[in-house]
Amino acid sequence: MSLPDPWQHFVNARRARRVERGLERILRPGTRASGTRIIRNSRELVSFAGNDYLGLASHPAVRAAAASCAKEFGVGAGASRLISGAHDLHAQLERRIAAHRGSERCLLFTSGYHVNVGVLSAFADADTLVASDELNHASIIDGCRLSRAKVVVYKHCDYEHARAMLASHQGRRLLVSDTLFSMSGDMANVGELSRVARDTGALLVLDDAHGYGTLGGSGRGVLEEQGLDESAAHIVTATLSKACGSLGGYACGSDDLIELLLNEARPFMFSTAGTLPDISAAMAAIVIIASAEGRALRERLKTLGKRLREGVHRHGFETGGEAHIVPVYIDGPERAVALSRRLEEAGFIAPAIRPPAAPWNRSMLRLCLSAAHDDADIDGLIQALAASSR
Ligand SMILES: Cc1ncc(COP(=O)(O)O)c(C=O)c1O
Repeated sequence: MSLPDPWQHFVNARRARRVERGLERILRPGTRASGTRIIRNSRELVSFAGNDYLGLASHPAVRAAAASCAKEFGVGAGASRLISGAHDLHAQLERRIAAHRGSERCLLFTSGYHVNVGVLSAFADADTLVASDELNHASIIDGCRLSRAKVVVYKHCDYEHARAMLASHQGRRLLVSDTLFSMSGDMANVGELSRVARDTGALLVLDDAHGYGTLGGSGRGVLEEQGLDESAAHIVTATLSKACGSLGGYACGSDDLIELLLNEARPFMFSTAGTLPDISAAMAAIVIIASAEGRALRERLKTLGKRLREGVHRHGFETGGEAHIVPVYIDGPERAVALSRRLEEAGFIAPAIRPPAAPWNRSMLRLCLSAAHDDADIDGLIQALAASSR
């Protein structure tokens, strides 16, 4: 069917605008050869662009769990949990996560994106003021929009700014932050967030997507890394698609908060439950995360982060963050894109992040580490970066 004229005009104008701003994106298919290797156009590339931080997506126990679950139970859950898609495996995983986090209750969603949209739109409404960190993830921004709340954006990790904005509102208040920021790679100060929330009577929602599994002695995430228990926040969300190597997301909190989500979070109510092999894979991953093997993988991730930062500093680059997401700041978006291209020619995937995804003066190569990288991957990348920037 041909497009009516106004729609053809709309589609053309949108494409022209993207191209003019240098924002046209394309899919670049490839085959995943292992946790850190991607084959594109018959070339094997070392990827520093993934979130499989512990390499669990291809861990034998995680693969085996998904495969045997598919064999025994099939794949799709068949319906949303509230209709007929609630399987014992979902409930078992929720209990396992709640026990690992030390929280009262957990609720699974189909992805981390669904969780944040669901939590924010269920708790915030037109009478709520939401204070949101300027570097929060898009799923938080979209959840805020859907909630119809009044949203104020505070300067990155500036908790006095957040406090002042929250204090100016008469009705219900909600404070929301990533714990480990996905672009800048730095961590929120959860103790400070907790104090602001307590003093202003705000509901504190934290997104631990990049921290769960990768940080803290037992892998509980940024709260554990900072010596805090779960009572530091009202709701903690996270994803099963990064360190857990699977797909899905969860929210943890008290029984009454989770009960509200189960009844009112639309992405939970109106979307099919997570597939059973994904749930089994996540369960196997969390068993590893909480074990001595998980601890060793986290240590390895830390060691690799140190090696990478020291190496790029030796060549005069500035880095940010403190964990397994390593932004390498580059002067100007064009230079960042050119460097990323040259690195790919040298065999490394190191994506350039530029405005609007990065602040206007802060283009970067964003390097994501995995415990599955070896020392030679890191050293090779450092050498290629130094050679490409000459
Ligand atoms: C901070 C943060 N929260 C949530 C998500 C969404 O998670 P998922 O990929 O499971 O939808 C992401 C994904 O990149 C993220 O970086």
